[in-house]
Amino acid sequence: MKDTRSAPVSPETIALCRSRLAHEPVEGFLLGSGAVPAKVMFVGEAPGATEIQEGMPFTGQAGREMDAYLERLGLSRSEVYITSTVRSRPFKERIITRASGERVVSRSNRTPTKAEILAHAPILDEEIRLVRPQFLIPMGNIALHRLIGSHETVTSLHGKMIEGPVQQAAERDNPAAGYRFSLETYNIFPLFHPAAVLYNRKLSRTIESDLDILARILTE
Ligand code: URA
Repeated sequence: MKDTRSAPVSPETIALCRSRLAHEPVEGFLLGSGAVPAKVMFVGEAPGATEIQEGMPFTGQAGREMDAYLERLGLSRSEVYITSTVRSRPFKERIITRASGERVVSRSNRTPTKAEILAHAPILDEEIRLVRPQFLIPMGNIALHRLIGSHETVTSLHGKMIEGPVQQAAERDNPAAGYRFSLETYNIFPLFHPAAVLYNRKLSRTIESDLDILARILTE
């Protein structure tokens, strides 16, 4: 069995990217996890509260769906690499009133902004270089747009193999330089985000069929 660990992203890259979000509404930090190198790399959106607490990607509600994806693919967490576009939990706060009348601040997940995704881009870039995946699996529109740079949606591209370059930070130390495309090309197979089915149960057949297509491709 392969080692389950985080890709050894350089401490300079981690410090640089973390410092960029130091004053944004995000909390915690965790790298991706799995095999290094790995044939298949899954890219999600951003960790949630459970992931930050556990220090492991996809361990909350979406994690149970992620495990179902892996089971259908006949893969284990120790033979793939699982990561996200942003490595901290983006949150929003609101004040809720408890039954006791006490008012408390509650944090819920939110979608990372474009600036947050660009701020953490060098981490994902380094993870891709270190993991050297043959197959990149963006899960959901946030990961898809981060990698392919287009505004086509998972709804139109899910379950199809795309061959092409991926976006990377043009300059690690200068987010204002934006993205450029990699010289390398990848096999990119977009899937719905594992949390999507929690909001729309009707997607489950489509997701299963996409996973069956991917399983066949991976065993070819
Ligand atoms: N959603 C993600 O994209 N990543 C996680 O780790 C958890 C939920």
